[in-house]
Amino acid sequence: MKIIIINGPNLNLLGKRENDIYGDETFNDFFEKLQLKFPNVKLSQFQSNIEGELIDKIQEIGYSYDGIILNAAAYTHTSVGIADAAKAIPAPVVEVHISNTFSREDFRHKSYIAPNAKGVIVGFGLQSYELALQSFLK
Ligand code: DQA
Repeated sequence: MKIIIINGPNLNLLGKRENDIYGDETFNDFFEKLQLKFPNVKLSQFQSNIEGELIDKIQEIGYSYDGIILNAAAYTHTSVGIADAAKAIPAPVVEVHISNTFSREDFRHKSYIAPNAKGVIVGFGLQSYELALQSFLK
């Protein structure tokens, strides 16, 4: 099973960004532990702050991977292009968010990606990624 985690803008700052909201663990530390927990999954990750690079990556792997765990971060609330890419590819997309976007500002309540996702996992901290991964394994 080949799964990729795709992270959008500012998620490279996890561990030092708004720790009260996003926790104090870096994504790389979390990702290493996740790989050890799921040794039978070919798990990779990609992060970009650039909308077009996220679209390129979704297109590139969307025909050969079994699933995408996508945290498009701020682009979730703005990007028709990323939403269209998620719809275009055969690989199922699970949308995740670390924080509970519904308990935050109104502009975070809208997701352009959600209608094209298999499911959405929101608000469980970094564990949101693990829950998304489990959803592909059942
Ligand atoms: C986020 C929520 C978004 O609203 C925000 O712009 C992010 C992170 C989350 O994982 O909680 O950068 O996607």
